[in-house]
Amino acid sequence: MNNLSPTEFALDEAGIAAARNSLDDGAVTPAYGPHRDAIIKLLNDSLATELVCVLRYKRHYFMASGMSSPAIADEFRAHAKEEAEHADRLAQRIVQLGGEPDFCPSTLLERSHAEYDDSNDLQTMVRKNLIAERIAVETYRQMITLLADKDPTTRRLLEDILADEEEHADELSDWLEK
Ligand SMILES: [Fe+2]
Ligand SMILES: [Fe+2]
Repeated sequence: MNNLSPTEFALDEAGIAAARNSLDDGAVTPAYGPHRDAIIKLLNDSLATELVCVLRYKRHYFMASGMSSPAIADEFRAHAKEEAEHADRLAQRIVQLGGEPDFCPSTLLERSHAEYDDSNDLQTMVRKNLIAERIAVETYRQMITLLADKDPTTRRLLEDILADEEEHADELSDWLEK
């Protein structure tokens, strides 16, 4: 096994010294500096995606309820609730990084990775939701790779959310087979 030399394993003393300054930035130390705006932009795009997913699942929940399809309606409602929680966690992280969460409704769809859907039959709803979940899985996976060690806290948050999205996609593909 190759042992790391003492220099490879040393802390970045300059980074620690810089952390003493810019107290206005709260938990955000200067090491975030060059990436902070890019990270906030990625998080805001995901926030928009989660909000569009909430709206799509809400629409599908109420439509499926009207069609007396209680089991799938419950699934849509549960997903809507979890996407809303994802949105809250993303917004909270954006503020922690010194940014502003963008909830502006007029630009929501163009900023979202996933689409809204107002179809009226259950199979199409399930398929559209599965597409949106797969888009979410892919974008979170790419973001996690991009973040790597640049912002471990955001990366862990996204890893958590990614696990939920994979579960959502799994549940929906079960419904497709029914
Ligand atoms: Fe989500
Ligand atoms: Fe999801």
